[in-house]
Amino acid sequence: MSIQQLQASKQGGTFSQVTAPIPKPDSHEVAIRPKAVSLNPIDWKNLHFGAMVSAWPAVLGIEGAGVVESVGSSVTSFKPGDEVMSWISRNQFNGAFQDVYTSQETWIARKPSSLSFEEATSLPIGFLTGGAAVAVGLKVALPGLSKPDSTAPQLKSILVLGASSAVGAAAVQLLRIALPSATIITTSSAAHHAHLKSLGATTCLERSAQEDASALKAASPGGTGVDAVLDAVGACGDSPAVFDALRSDGPKLYSLVLTRLGIEFPPGLQAMMVGGYDLVSKYPDAMEYLTKLLEDGKYQLPVKVEVVGKGLSAIEGNLDKVMKVSGTKLVISL
Ligand SMILES: NC(=O)c1ccc[n+]([C@@H]2O[C@H](COP(=O)([O-])OP(=O)(O)OC[C@H]3O[C@@H](n4cnc5c(N)ncnc54)[C@H](OP(=O)(O)O)[C@@H]3O)[C@@H](O)[C@H]2O)c1
Repeated sequence: MSIQQLQASKQGGTFSQVTAPIPKPDSHEVAIRPKAVSLNPIDWKNLHFGAMVSAWPAVLGIEGAGVVESVGSSVTSFKPGDEVMSWISRNQFNGAFQDVYTSQETWIARKPSSLSFEEATSLPIGFLTGGAAVAVGLKVALPGLSKPDSTAPQLKSILVLGASSAVGAAAVQLLRIALPSATIITTSSAAHHAHLKSLGATTCLERSAQEDASALKAASPGGTGVDAVLDAVGACGDSPAVFDALRSDGPKLYSLVLTRLGIEFPPGLQAMMVGGYDLVSKYPDAMEYLTKLLEDGKYQLPVKVEVVGKGLSAIEGNLDKVMKVSGTKLVISL
């Protein structure tokens, strides 16, 4: 049996559809036939900078939702026919942009029946990465997933930078679940303030506040600064004023989602760089937790879902749009 896969020819190159053998999952993997795939910033960075590409030609795409095709010999959580959503263990010829891809069992969640495949594909990466920034970067316990860390500071105020991103909006929701009475301050363009308040933000600031430490501090309890910053978009790389939003006598936690290399932190900060992998490697039940939060009505789609095309052939023409979105996940139906 064969499938069609969309191969990027080289760094900055064009795409072509190629016939390939149907992938077989390893013992801990599941093969999934995607019904919808997401376009993510990393896909664009992989194409143009080869950010995480070991060899060309390459199949890109790291997030999808679809139907289980087959399972490896050690897989117990899924069976053929199950509807799922997943992150993907990408390698040269394994990515979301093909008829069937494989992923590790722990990187896959059951799709709630209330969600379409297009909605479901928008969820895994934002959840895992936002969750890592909360539970690993800030050591905040997520009720039902992670146990409180007795050595971690009790956070009363957190500033979330880039809160309208898929990662940032996931983090706002998870912080509100974990810390019901904390002050959560966000930055984003004004169009997203009402949505971010509905997800749990206390005070929403314009993105321009990232250049002005006094505006950031003024929004904090007592005006003295926040206990912690969760930087979903690497904002500190361009706006070092954000470091001064931290309370001088506080725990000075800075949880930075890994977006690029070369960011330097001022001395005295407890800074940690995180990626989505950090949540699932520390908490293998993380994806099951996502399904439970959704089914319990405690977690909603972090950002709007916009279906921009249908079929593998629609991916190439839409990939450039991914670096210009605002509070939106771009999705291709298959
Ligand atoms: N290491 C990992 O495992 C991992 C995983 C996932 C994502 N990432 C990275 O994390 C970043 C976010 O990913 P995503 O998928 O959540 O992105 P996204 O949803 O595509 O991000 C778009 C949003 O980011 C906001 N934004 C962009 N630059 C900003 C800045 N300097 N300050 C404040 N807001 C800014 C925009 O806000 P406004 O339009 O409201 O201004 C826009 O709403 C990307 O760089 C991505 O590559 C890393």
